[in-house]
Amino acid sequence: MKSKYTVYANWKMNPASLKDAKSLFSETIKNVKGISKTSLVICPPFIYLPNLSSKSKSISLGSQDVFYEKEGPYTGEISVKQLKDLSVQSIIIGHSERRALGEKGGEISLKIQAILSSNLKAVLCVGEPSRDENGEYLKTLEKQIKDSLENVQGRKVANLTVAYEPVWAIGGDKRPLDKEGTREIYIFIKKVLSDIFGAVKASKINIIYGGSVNSKNVLDFIKETGMTGVLVGSSSLDSKEFGELIKKVEKGF
Ligand code: PGA
Repeated sequence: MKSKYTVYANWKMNPASLKDAKSLFSETIKNVKGISKTSLVICPPFIYLPNLSSKSKSISLGSQDVFYEKEGPYTGEISVKQLKDLSVQSIIIGHSERRALGEKGGEISLKIQAILSSNLKAVLCVGEPSRDENGEYLKTLEKQIKDSLENVQGRKVANLTVAYEPVWAIGGDKRPLDKEGTREIYIFIKKVLSDIFGAVKASKINIIYGGSVNSKNVLDFIKETGMTGVLVGSSSLDSKEFGELIKKVEKGF
């Protein structure tokens, strides 16, 4: 059997109450019951993490950010250890919505180092704000990847995933990248990762796609593109639609 695909549900700052978070979680679990080939990582806001858990081996918890220091006087921040204590296994870092709030490569790199050294999974988000005919956007992307991974040691990169999320495709109702474009960008990102870590280590790093993924288009991003998963925002807030999406991935093998 082929290796598993991973689907990340990024709830962002939703829903508005614990009651709604619990019901979205249980409905989602119900609608994806029986999955065996897909790994599902649900990434709710921090505050809901202690209240959500699943017995299924295929479903785990993720978070949408973390701070890089171990402990101490960092008001408002949350450490890797604290997340680990709540059974979080994967952490999204450098999402474009966080970068828009001022997060930079140096900080992102420190966060990734903290995650990998604690043996959790880091999902590094990268993506250009817009495209141009001359391919300048590829330079932007390359710089983003290199800055975000500066000083990250190759030893634990098997726990690193790069999520390619072009900013112009994020929002749930945008026109996403097509299949051919997904394949091309996969090859480009692999090449950049090989430049950084060498081909052998780069081959261990998963690359996934995010940006207006839904149940209708999901297979375009993972079938024959090299990508091993998707990061889903809007569609993950509708448990019925999300259940359909997961079913497509399961059948798509
Ligand atoms: P979207 O969001 O699926 O709503 O486009 C994806 C993301 O921002 O991770």
